[in-house]
Amino acid sequence: MCGIVGYIGSGKATPILMDGLLSLEYRGYDSAGIATLEKNKIVVMKDKGRVKNLYELEGMNDLAGTVGIAHTRWATHGKPSKENSHPHMDNSNSFAVVHNGIIENYADLKDFLTSKGYTFYSQTDTEVIPNLIHYYYTNGPVSILEDGKQKFLGAVKSAIYDLKGSYAIEVISSLCPEEMIVVRKDSPLVIGKGMSENFVASDIPAILKYTKDFYLLDDNEFAVITKDTIHFYDNSLIEHNKSLKNIDWDANAAGKDGYEDFMLKEIYEQPTAVRETIGSRFHLGEKCSFDDVAISKEYLSKVNKIYIVACGTAMHAGLSGKTLIEKLCKIPTVVDIASEFRYRDPLIDENTLCIYISQSGETADTIAALKLAKSKGAKTLAISNVIGSSITREADYSIYTHAGPEIAVASTKAYTSQVVLLAILAMYFAEILGSYPQEEIEKLKSDIIDLPTKIEQVLDNTEEIKNFAKKIYTEKDMFFLGRGTDYNASLEGSLKLKEISYIHSEAYAAGELKHGPIALIENGVTVVGIITNPDLVEKTISNMQEVITRGAKTLIITNQILPNANFDYVVNIPDTNPLVSPILSVIPMQLLSYYISKFKGLDVDKPRNLAKSVTVE
Ligand code: F6R
Repeated sequence: MCGIVGYIGSGKATPILMDGLLSLEYRGYDSAGIATLEKNKIVVMKDKGRVKNLYELEGMNDLAGTVGIAHTRWATHGKPSKENSHPHMDNSNSFAVVHNGIIENYADLKDFLTSKGYTFYSQTDTEVIPNLIHYYYTNGPVSILEDGKQKFLGAVKSAIYDLKGSYAIEVISSLCPEEMIVVRKDSPLVIGKGMSENFVASDIPAILKYTKDFYLLDDNEFAVITKDTIHFYDNSLIEHNKSLKNIDWDANAAGKDGYEDFMLKEIYEQPTAVRETIGSRFHLGEKCSFDDVAISKEYLSKVNKIYIVACGTAMHAGLSGKTLIEKLCKIPTVVDIASEFRYRDPLIDENTLCIYISQSGETADTIAALKLAKSKGAKTLAISNVIGSSITREADYSIYTHAGPEIAVASTKAYTSQVVLLAILAMYFAEILGSYPQEEIEKLKSDIIDLPTKIEQVLDNTEEIKNFAKKIYTEKDMFFLGRGTDYNASLEGSLKLKEISYIHSEAYAAGELKHGPIALIENGVTVVGIITNPDLVEKTISNMQEVITRGAKTLIITNQILPNANFDYVVNIPDTNPLVSPILSVIPMQLLSYYISKFKGLDVDKPRNLAKSVTVE
C-alpha cells in the first residue's frame, strides 16, 4: 500500500522521483505528490489521481531541487483528494513527510497537537507526523541534543517514539537541507547507494535502474542520508554499521517489454518464472535441495502439524501445498487466511511448522501471523518472491520463488511459481522423511520439469480464450466449479475475474453446488468447469450437466478426453499430474479475466480499490 521514493544527490530530483513513482504506482494510485527543496524552501506538488497528473501541475517543470521525497497513495484515512495527498507539511512549512502505513493513535496525537496550537488541513493520520517533528524540534526535551546527536534526528526520533502502528517514513527539512531521514516499522523501505547520490524506495525495482547496491532498513531503524553518506541508528540513536546487499536483478525485467499491460507480460512470463523456480533445486535421480535451507530429519520427524498461512492468491497456492504435503509427507496440513489465523489463537507448539507465503513479503497480516507462530515456539518458513523482504527477515527459513518482479496488481506468475515451489518443498520433505515412494517422486519431478513447455502450449491457445471472453464480457455473474485440485484452481480463477473485470463470481467445490448455490443458476449464466483429475471426471461432468439443465452456458477447461457432452466451449490443456494441474488450468482463467477486462475497457494493471502490496491490516 502506498509507494514512496526519495532522492538526495547532485542531479535534479524530480525526474528520478517521478520515474520511481510511476514504477511504484501499482502499490496505490488514488493520489500522488512530491516535495523538493528549492533554495532551502520546501515546495510541494500534489494532486488526486494518477502519478502522471503531476506533470500537468503548474510549476512542476521549474523544480530544480536536488533533494526530494515522493508518494503515491492508497487511501486509508481520508478520501482521495489534494489535501489528503502526501507529502504533508508541518504548520511552519519546515518539515515535509511521506508515509506508508497507518498511525493507529493519530486521533490522540492530533488532540495533543491541537491543544498546543497546531492546525490540521487534511483527514489523514500522516499529518500528525510533520507537526510532531516540529513540536519536538522547537519544544523537545534537551535530551534530543545529547551525545552530540543532531537536533533534526532527535526530533524525528521523539516523534516516532509517540507513534503506534506501522510506518515507512521519509522526512526532509528546510532547516537541515543537506539531509533526509528515513525510518520504518512493519512497512518496507530500502536505500539505494549511488555515487554522490542516494535513493530511497518502498521497493527495490523502483530504483533498480540507478543502483544495484541496497541497504534493507530494519524495523525501528533510522537512517540519516546525505548525498555522500548514509548513517544508521537504532531506536536509542546508537549508531551502527550495516551491510550493503548487491541485488542482481535485471532492471529491464520491471518494464513492459512491448506487452500492452504488465498482467499480460507476467502471464506470458510463466514458463520462464517456473523454470527459475525449479532452478537447480532438483534433477532427475537426485534428491531435492535448497541452497539456503537445510531441514534435519530429526526436526521434521517431530513435526505433527503444518500450517500454511497467506492471503488472497498466495493462500490459493497454499491449498495446492496442503494437497501435496499431505499426500507426499503424510503430515496433517491446515491452510489458513492470515488475517483469521492471527486473531484466533491457533493451536501451535514447537512441533508445528508454519509456512507463510507472500509474493511481496510485505503483507501486514501474513507477517503478523508469522510473528505469532514464532512467539508460540513454532519454526517458521517463508516463501516469497522478494529477496530481503520483511517476511524473509522474520522467518527461521526462507525460500524464494525467483519469478522476477510482479508489477500487475492481479497476481499470476507468483501463483504458478508458488505452487511449483510448494511441490518442490513437499518432495524435499518426503525425501527426508522417506514418506512417499521414490519412484513416484521421480515421476512428479519429471512432470514438474515438463511444466514450462506445457504452459507454453496453453499460451498458444490464447486466441481461443479471447474469443470466448468476447462472447461473455457483458455478464454480471459467473461460477467456477471443480473438485480436488481443480477446486483450488477454480478459487484462483474466480478471484482473478472479480479483481480485474468487476464481474461477480463464485467458486465452488462442484459437489457442494446442490447444497445451496445451484439456486443461483439460471438461463444464460456462465459456469466454468475445471476437469483435470481422471478419478473425478465423471463426478464433475455430472455437476456440469446439472447446471446445463438449468440453462447455464458452460466453458470446460480440461486435459481429459470427455464423453460427447453439450458444453458450449472446451479449452484443452496438456495432461499432467493432478497434484500440480492448477499450474496449467489456471492459465486459461487468467487469460479469460484479462481479456474480459480489456473488452470492458478497464485498467487491467490497476484495478479499482486494490493495491499490490497490502501493508496495512
Ligand atoms: C490477487 C492478489 C492478492 C495477493 C495478496 C497477498 O491477485 O494479488 O490476493 O495474493 O494480497 O499478497 P502477497 O503474496 O504479496 O502477500
